[in-house]
Amino acid sequence: MAVCGNPAPSFKFERLPTFAEPTHYDVRLSPCLNQFSFEGLSTVDITIKEATDVLKVHAQSLHIQSVSLVSNPGDASKTLETSYDDKLNILSIKLPSVLQPQKVQLVFKFVGELNDKMRGFYRSQYKDKAGTEKFLASTQFESTYARYAFPCFDEPIYKATFDVTLEVENHLTALSNMNVISETPSADGKRKVVKFATTPKMSSYLVAFAVGELEYISAQTKSGVEMRVYTVPGKKEQGQYSLDLSVKCIDWYNEWFDIPYPLPKCDLIAIPDFSMGAMENWGLVTYREIALLVDPGVTSTRQKSRVALVVAHELAHLWFGNLVTMKWWTDLWLKEGFASFMEYMFVGANCPEFKIWLHFLNDELASGMALDGLRNSHPIEVEIDNPNELDEIYDSITYAKSNSVNRMLCYYLSEPVFQKGLRLYLKKFQYSNAVTQDLWTALSEASGQNVNELMSGWTQQMGFPVLHVSQRQDGNNRILTVRQRRFISDGGEDPKNSLWQVPITVSIGSAPSEVKARFLLKEQHQEFVVEGVQPGEWVKLNSGTTGFYRVEYSDEMLTAMLPDIASRKMPVLDRFGLINDLSALLNTGRVSIAQFVQVAASSANEDEFVVWGAIDEGMSKLLGCAREMSEDTLKSAKQLIIKLFEKTGAELGFAEQAGEDSQKMMLRALVQARLARAGHQPTIDKFNQMFNDFLEKGTPIHPDIRLSTFGVVARCGGKEGFDKLMNLRETTTFQEIERQTMIAMSQTPEQPLLAQLFEYGFEKNKVRPQDQLYLFVGTGATQMGQQYAWTYFCEHIKEFLEKYGGANSSLFQRCLKFAGESFGSEQRAVEFQDFFCNCKDLTDTDRQTLARPIGQTVEAIRLSARLLESNRKVIEELLKQHNV
Ligand code: BES
Ligand code: ZN
Repeated sequence: MAVCGNPAPSFKFERLPTFAEPTHYDVRLSPCLNQFSFEGLSTVDITIKEATDVLKVHAQSLHIQSVSLVSNPGDASKTLETSYDDKLNILSIKLPSVLQPQKVQLVFKFVGELNDKMRGFYRSQYKDKAGTEKFLASTQFESTYARYAFPCFDEPIYKATFDVTLEVENHLTALSNMNVISETPSADGKRKVVKFATTPKMSSYLVAFAVGELEYISAQTKSGVEMRVYTVPGKKEQGQYSLDLSVKCIDWYNEWFDIPYPLPKCDLIAIPDFSMGAMENWGLVTYREIALLVDPGVTSTRQKSRVALVVAHELAHLWFGNLVTMKWWTDLWLKEGFASFMEYMFVGANCPEFKIWLHFLNDELASGMALDGLRNSHPIEVEIDNPNELDEIYDSITYAKSNSVNRMLCYYLSEPVFQKGLRLYLKKFQYSNAVTQDLWTALSEASGQNVNELMSGWTQQMGFPVLHVSQRQDGNNRILTVRQRRFISDGGEDPKNSLWQVPITVSIGSAPSEVKARFLLKEQHQEFVVEGVQPGEWVKLNSGTTGFYRVEYSDEMLTAMLPDIASRKMPVLDRFGLINDLSALLNTGRVSIAQFVQVAASSANEDEFVVWGAIDEGMSKLLGCAREMSEDTLKSAKQLIIKLFEKTGAELGFAEQAGEDSQKMMLRALVQARLARAGHQPTIDKFNQMFNDFLEKGTPIHPDIRLSTFGVVARCGGKEGFDKLMNLRETTTFQEIERQTMIAMSQTPEQPLLAQLFEYGFEKNKVRPQDQLYLFVGTGATQMGQQYAWTYFCEHIKEFLEKYGGANSSLFQRCLKFAGESFGSEQRAVEFQDFFCNCKDLTDTDRQTLARPIGQTVEAIRLSARLLESNRKVIEELLKQHNV
């Protein structure tokens, strides 16, 4: 992608040549936690497949001391000349002569750094009970960082077995993918040498080590796998929830996939510094602390359900990803999309209390659509030339859209058929690699249908369709006219005229929970007959919101549904889908904020958290527009929202009631927080009182309303409130509370406080780099905050790049997006884009890496601007009409 009119840089990316491949590695590393370094010795068994006088392997940030070749066992080794390409991270090893196809061994001696960039073999820092600074070492190799730890064929296609040996200080625990097979004193007797069993055939990005003062709890699965949860000292009890769940999960997957987990053990370890959420290293899964550790009285329901999802996600990878791996990163979705889908399958079946499929709609379906509605989206099967573009691809397309498309297919084929296809696929490609086509072939075999034809439109084209539906009655038949076109958030034309095969389901007013009819839309425009529908009865498409498409109804069709939305006769998944579609159509200009408010008003009896979430999102758009219009408009809009939310707020109150489900407290938090944001004074007072009672009398705040409470304190509590939050952050040891105080404090309306917060977090480094992006999260709450965050980002971009390890870092990219995305005018869109074009701290390669995230943010800014322009008049009239 070219940026700013600059030609794409001329650098041409290269994969490793295919004339040689590794079969086995013997890797010995001696990390030194005091000196932040490690020494390494590795032997790689290589099969030469075509005559060559050179071998190439990946290596990065390694000081290679020597490379030697053994062509026949027992031969003396020859030391070889090497050259290094620092753009490709490829070490070329010159062979003494042209070697014909044969097996050889390369022996590498090298030294590396335990870096602080959360990639490769890196160090993580924490304080022990006495407050002393301590370090542990851990790894993050996906996608291309195994090469930071030892020279290797660092592409997923090169599967090999690994023997790992770690030499560490006696008091430390050393972990790797496999179980320990021996522990002996080192040559000088000062350290211990820990040797691990041979791994199965696997890709380099799945290798892992961990070294530190660790403690654990353990349990066994029914099938006899030893499961452990490791933490830094003092935290192992917080691993109990994940341990119990992971034991269940392995057994559940063993059955579901019909392939037993092949390793004797699986460790789950919480690492204090971790760039992503978690990583599925085979047998040694690494997690952020917040993604693994739970304190039953303190963790919020939402966070607990996230822990369940993350645990289940990574363990699903043990099959989808580790056992069967994509051939190249283009098919990344084959592992991420399926691990994401299986996490919901597992949690849905085993943790009913979370009502996880309701959350699926907002967290996966809606979030996938939000990104995929942009012109700067990308297909699920995305061309990856240079893996430097890779981090950016771990996005809501690869995760949320893939996940939703899988769910759509699962419903279309039925779960047993879908499962049968997946089992076929896993068995056929285990210990090997696959491409998307292989999966479609297996699913076609299982279903007897042409799955490739059905699905390729969803994975190879970007975007998704919106169906325009109108109807007429013919006796007892309802005739639907359906047109598809690409849904683009700005409402504009699709440059490509894309078409999809859309599985359509229909439900009707007299049986709202049933699928009355099924069709497959293949053409741009088709008519379908639904039999047995009374005149006047509503007809709705996409029953259960199982499809990855939006529907735009004729006025008549929409109006007919409103009473059953109000009475909640329409099922919750459908109510959510309908309202979320409407909210998205706001930006296209095809639905006005007034129409949305009408639907919101008819949802006064709504009792489900997720549906309120969709309503609330529309309200937040209304407030966003009003804020840009004038002080008075903003005031009136706030009053309108109070009018809409007040009754529900009063009914819900603030306290948990006996016998409620897990969603009620979240709903309470959402509604009361919206009322507080709208300036409803009694609600604000109540929140402040809860916070003060907590600080002064120790009255606990329910974990599910804690973030809302902190937010109100930060927005309305001035310096005093801010200081209390800061104090709480400094004294708590619990990561979720830490995070929530930061998100809250960043919402302060006072610039000096925001400046203090940013200095504290970024300059004084009091916030771990992995968490610094949370300082941006709340700044969109005020115009001052937006401006501050943006200016700060611009002025410190050099430090950000340096700290997060470059433009390819996902932490950097997330900060970039947060810094701009709450703007809402054309002028800001241009300013944002221009900054990156002109920024001296970026190279052309950086600009290329960042093209898509920048494009997406610019587009998001323009969408807000558009929303405002198309709704100015509507909002004025709406507010007049409601007399507020
Ligand atoms: N394989 C990924 C971790 C990863 C992401 C490595 C990006 C390299 C680059 C892991 O399985 C994952 O998907 N983690 C998610 C959490 C999950 C529950 C969606 C994450 O880290 O956000
Ligand atoms: Zn994953």
